[in-house]
Amino acid sequence: MTVDDVIPAWPFDRATALTPPGEYAALRRDGCPMARVALWSGETAWLATSHADVLGVLGDPRFSSDPHRPGVMPSPSAAALQFWKVKGTFDKTDPPEHDRERRMVQTEFLVKRVRGHRPFLERTTDALLDTLAAAPQPVDLVTMLGDVVPALMTCELMGLPADDGALLRAHLATFMSQASTPEQSAAAMTALLDYFDAVIADREREERDDLASRLVQGQLLPGHLSREGTRRMLLDLLIGGLDTTSSMIALGTVLLLENPEQVALLADDPGLWPQAVEELLRYLTIAQFIGSRTALDDVSVNETAMSAGDGVFASLLAANWDPAVFPDPEVLDVTRPPGRHVAFGYGVHQCLGQALARLELEVVLGRLFARFPAMRLVTRPADLRFNRTTIHTALEVLVDVHGEQR
Ligand code: HEM
Repeated sequence: MTVDDVIPAWPFDRATALTPPGEYAALRRDGCPMARVALWSGETAWLATSHADVLGVLGDPRFSSDPHRPGVMPSPSAAALQFWKVKGTFDKTDPPEHDRERRMVQTEFLVKRVRGHRPFLERTTDALLDTLAAAPQPVDLVTMLGDVVPALMTCELMGLPADDGALLRAHLATFMSQASTPEQSAAAMTALLDYFDAVIADREREERDDLASRLVQGQLLPGHLSREGTRRMLLDLLIGGLDTTSSMIALGTVLLLENPEQVALLADDPGLWPQAVEELLRYLTIAQFIGSRTALDDVSVNETAMSAGDGVFASLLAANWDPAVFPDPEVLDVTRPPGRHVAFGYGVHQCLGQALARLELEVVLGRLFARFPAMRLVTRPADLRFNRTTIHTALEVLVDVHGEQR
């Protein structure tokens, strides 16, 4: 393989439900960590598969995240590209506009502020685990736990009634699902935007102690953000936090149950949980099709010359399995020193909600495994089915929480 060869048919499928496509390792091994790939659109793009190249792309301001710019924006499907174009908030814009909008909400996601949500998360998780314990087995971890905690957390954060969580989840599922027709998807997005319109109107009338109020009072009313921008920002925060965290809860559980010796380490030393969460994030890298950029200028990344308008996909999943940075990447090791994975991205777009995601995962997974030490996987990993979006989202994960103890 040379840099002049064009590899057909990106995106590649994962080798197994839990492991990356074999092509990524093969490209690195063949000395071609920056390769040319053919996209569904007939265009070609660069594919970065080494940790160094992924950082080189994502950390360089000469690459744009804006799908409206001229040039190639590599996307895994026509639907994904369309979705990015209609979203239109700061995750798909470039500095300085990006930074201006991100700053409007970033204090809500600071580690210190996020820590204050721990008691809520613990209470919420324990109540859901009670439901799992009492339900006929097996139970579905996606619909009964993974989807529920992030939705309730988002309601708590924004100041929405907890009862609205199910409605928001349902609309979002239709909006994001590959099984929805374009009309169904558009109707679900309209329903979500209408919902946030009503939230905004409510906060205009009455200020409360929540994110929605602070956005309305601090940004919308003084004229820093339009009404359209405000409802889209709320929608974006909802989208950012739900499928991502849900998938990590469900697939993180599967991965741990497949590695009982790692579960035993955690049972012996629960202080390892924060480190285990980092390792699960690295291993699974569920944001598998996030990392698309367009070159704004002629630019070189670690020796590879690209032209203005070239598209590049910086694969977070490939980077997180680069053996130059993570020895034996295929080994799940909850004692692995954390710190260099890019599961939350890298550079100016690095995940805004990462402190919250980490806390949710630590609380939910830690409590799930402590409460049900005999939990057993019913769905075999090979039989997991996925919703093919930019996030690696399992549709159903069945477990028997009582396992052999029943
Ligand atoms: C395990 C859970 C999560 C994962 C794996 C994840 C992953 C990511 C990744 C990879 C990016 C970078 C996008 C890019 O470079 O184009 C990102 C951005 C973002 N994430 Fe997350 N995320 C998670 C949870 C959350 C949560 C809980 C929230 C909020 C409630 C959130 C909100 C956002 C936002 C707003 C951005 C855009 C940041 C920007 O463009 O400046 N995410 N996330």
